Amino acid sequence: MPLPNEFIEQVRDANEITSVISSYISLKRAGRDSVCLCPFHSEKTPSCHIYTDTQSFYCFGCGAGGDVINFIRLIEHLDYLESVKFLAQRANIPMPEDSFDKRAEAKQRMLEINRRAARFFRDILISEKGLPGRRYLQQRQLSGNTIRKYGLGYVPDSWDTLKKYMLSEGYTEQELLDAALLAKKDSHSYDKFRNRVMFPIIDRRGNIIGFGGRTLEPDAPAKYLNSDETLVFHKRNSLFSLNFAKNTKEKYLILCEGYMDVISLNQAGFDNAVATLGTAITPEQARLMRQYCEEVVISYDSDGAGQKATMKAINLLGEAGIEARVLQMSGAKDPDEYVKKYGADGFRLLLEKSGGAISFELKKLAVGLDMDAPEGKSSYLKKAVNLLAAINNKIDRMVYINDTAKLCGLSAGEIEKAVEEKRKILAYTARKNEAKELINPPKKPRDGFVPSSQLSPQEKAQRGIIAFMMHSPDLLPKIEKRITENDFSNEFCQKLYQGTARRIKNGISVDLSSLGDEFSAQEMGKITGIINENNLLPYQKERLEEYIRVLENHRDRYGGKKPSELSEEEMLKEMELIRKKIGG
Ligand code: UTP
Ligand code: MN
Repeated sequence: MPLPNEFIEQVRDANEITSVISSYISLKRAGRDSVCLCPFHSEKTPSCHIYTDTQSFYCFGCGAGGDVINFIRLIEHLDYLESVKFLAQRANIPMPEDSFDKRAEAKQRMLEINRRAARFFRDILISEKGLPGRRYLQQRQLSGNTIRKYGLGYVPDSWDTLKKYMLSEGYTEQELLDAALLAKKDSHSYDKFRNRVMFPIIDRRGNIIGFGGRTLEPDAPAKYLNSDETLVFHKRNSLFSLNFAKNTKEKYLILCEGYMDVISLNQAGFDNAVATLGTAITPEQARLMRQYCEEVVISYDSDGAGQKATMKAINLLGEAGIEARVLQMSGAKDPDEYVKKYGADGFRLLLEKSGGAISFELKKLAVGLDMDAPEGKSSYLKKAVNLLAAINNKIDRMVYINDTAKLCGLSAGEIEKAVEEKRKILAYTARKNEAKELINPPKKPRDGFVPSSQLSPQEKAQRGIIAFMMHSPDLLPKIEKRITENDFSNEFCQKLYQGTARRIKNGISVDLSSLGDEFSAQEMGKITGIINENNLLPYQKERLEEYIRVLENHRDRYGGKKPSELSEEEMLKEMELIRKKIGG
């Protein structure tokens, strides 16, 4: 059911794009406009622009873009209708009656089921049946306050405690299966979580999106069981306890491995701890953290696996533009155990001592080497020099060179010489690669996104004509006299031309927002790119004329064939012409 255009306009006008985006990411003003680190790909310098005039955003790094509705689509992982609804709610605009959306309704229903289940688990925990759970949590030294804050619960050792309850509340078996609360074997469904302490997983908006359950049995096959992916639960995009951590006064987040680490840290006063959900950290989670802080202290388990995962986290966080520090502990296997043993003050000391990623990596190089033997030292130094050479800040480099020198019992000067030698080689290789790229630009960087500077004249013309139509719809009759949709050899441009022309003929003003119901969130980025690249140039008759001629010429030569339909001979002729044009 399409939404009326006036309604979409009303919603869009009530949600100023800069203010909406700034509730997710910190913005920097740039004249009338703003820039920010793109939330849709990893970067260290801002390339996402927000334009007040056109109420649009566009990332020059990855090509994401669109209007405020498309921004919500991408960042909240909602579909078009849900995004309009989301923004309508934000601005207190009631939705038109007949526009309900099945998927959004299903999501709402699933969230309600989760809320019910969480309440049920909690009620059991405080009831007679909850004794094993209460005992367990007491033994883990969690206070009543902490248990309430996290909404912890318990489910007894039974195949159908939850199932029976939820069915009696009017939910169907299929709904419970969809919500991943039941599992199924040979057409028989049963409680997925049994004899477990239940940890609700809550998103930034306070919705319960899934559960983690810890077994009370010492030899259960899985210590923790997490909800499977559902309509509302996406592990890649979620972090445990971010609903609390996002409001912290600290300027950094603490990244842990486990639910219990985060909860114990919270109880000890560290409200800025978060954890991944039983998986290694993802780029999405790194970017999510970047929306709230510039620094993360990785606080993984002290065992081998934890240390290995730390390397991965350092890299991913770095790519998201986060400065990573690494907390190292001894005398305990994880933060949970550590704060219980050494108290909040003990853990605070560790936080203060936590070093940069480089110190961690340098230390790690020595693992397994006998640093008292010359062989050990020499192989350590070779690796250390590579790492040190990659540090661009001279002062930082000197500091770490000194550390390394001390560790190996050598003079800093010697190591510095080797490092500078290595840097020269690195700089030379970088220049060589740059030159290579200039001669031979990579065709498709980043997932099919082509910067406008690399477009063919053909494609530029097609995009330009569409931009002209959007800019001055009254030009359509004039354009239609000269060219048809068949002149748009690029499939996407053809679809966009048709969509734009159709809207103009129906008297709909063609701006970004009127296209959102037909084009995907990714396509909206492309359209924004087209509008942007053309807004940089004056909308003069001569330019339109030039574009139309490019398409006409092509048709005259090849009878309107698409490049893929050209014969071998036609293709060679075309290439020859292009070569002449660009003088290659
Ligand atoms: P750990 O095994 O380090 O858990 O797993 P922990 O926090 O020390 O657990 P306690 O203290 O014994 O209760 C860390 C995280 O890895 C995931 C969970 O998210 C857990 O919090 N995990 C672990 C699983 O998903 N499944 C498992 O079987 C084990
Ligand atoms: Mn633990």
